[in-house]
Amino acid sequence: MAVERTLSIIKPDAVAKNVIGEILTRFEKAGLTVVAAKMIKLDDEKAGGFYAEHKERPFFKDLVGFMTSGPVVVQVLEGENAIAANRELMGATNPKEAAAGTIRADFAESIDANAVHGSDSAASAEREIAYFFAAEEICAR
Ligand code: TYD
Ligand code: MG
Repeated sequence: MAVERTLSIIKPDAVAKNVIGEILTRFEKAGLTVVAAKMIKLDDEKAGGFYAEHKERPFFKDLVGFMTSGPVVVQVLEGENAIAANRELMGATNPKEAAAGTIRADFAESIDANAVHGSDSAASAEREIAYFFAAEEICAR
C-alpha cells in the first residue's frame, strides 16, 4: 500500500445538519489526515464542472442544484490507501444500500443528498484535488 491523497467533500446536507466535526473525526479515527480544507459555496459553473462526467445523466441538474444549495467543506485527505479507505468509510452512493456504520448510512437521507463525496480512483483524485486546491494550499506533513 502507498500513501495517497484523495478529495473529500462534506456536502450541503451534512453541513446543514452540523455534523462536519463528526465526519472529520471518522476520517481521523481511520488514520486519514486532513492536509487541506476550506468551506466554500459552489456556483453552478463550479459544481457542474466538478461533476462533468455526469453531465448527460438525468440527475445532473438536480445534483448541481443540491451542491449549490448551501456551503460545502472540501478537504484533501492523506493516508495509506486513502482513496479506497475513504470510499469504504463513506458507504454506497444510495444510503439505503450503505453498510451499517458508514457515513452515508448514518448521516444521509437519500441518494441525491448523500452527505459526502470521495474520489473514486487515482486519476479522479488528482483531477479533483487540483480542481479545488492550489499546490501551496496543501500542507505536506
Ligand atoms: P456517483 O459518482 O455515481 O456516486 P458517488 O458519489 O458514490 O461517487 O454519483 C455522483 C452523485 O450524483 C452521487 O453522490 C449523488 C448523485 N446521484 C443521484 O442523485 N442519483 C443517482 O442515481 C446517482 C447514480 C447519483
Ligand atoms: Mg463518483
